Amino acid sequence: MRNLRELLENNRAWSERIKANDPGFFQALVQQQTPRYLWIGCSDSRVPATQLVGLSSGDLFVHRNVANVVVHTDFNCLSVLQFAVDLLKVSHVIVCGHDSCSGVQAAMQNLKLGLTDNWLRHVQDVMHGHEALLSEISDEEQRLNRLCELNVIEQVLNVSRTTIVQNAWDRGQELAVHGWIYGIGDGLLRDLDICITNQRELSRAYEEAIRTPG
Ligand code: CO
Repeated sequence: MRNLRELLENNRAWSERIKANDPGFFQALVQQQTPRYLWIGCSDSRVPATQLVGLSSGDLFVHRNVANVVVHTDFNCLSVLQFAVDLLKVSHVIVCGHDSCSGVQAAMQNLKLGLTDNWLRHVQDVMHGHEALLSEISDEEQRLNRLCELNVIEQVLNVSRTTIVQNAWDRGQELAVHGWIYGIGDGLLRDLDICITNQRELSRAYEEAIRTPG
């Protein structure tokens, strides 16, 4: 119980493998991190951010929570965003959801899980906002996966509306906000064709993304 020996052994083997390939790898990382991307994704264990985009240590700044929600009063997420944009000067923020998301499913089915219900209320807001669109989908799994996509699109909008991103665009900093969805069943990412790089693109990109069938 007190000893996670297997994980610590895995870690030693992992470190040795990397050093065998590139002896200076970790020492270079001590000096600085220069990631170009901020990933905002779901905490789901099946969606390992850095691995699934083929990146390595130092390449991806990561924030994950249940159902990849960006809330304007969540100082945890906002602090990660500010650190990434203002200090690390990332060029891209990727909001990545995934299909079959149990957080989104719990929101859709109005399950009573406890404290988490309050967090998932934000996903229910997304669902209620798109009720007409979702009610056209009779298959439950497809409806869930469409809500997973709509949730990503709404969170892209939330990221773009933060003072952090708005201020970055105002001062001319290059910064793109993307919305992706990850397929648990095939390991593939899909671009939801919402990419916002300035204030002017915001409304139109959102409207187009919502209209595009999933
Ligand atoms: Co999830």
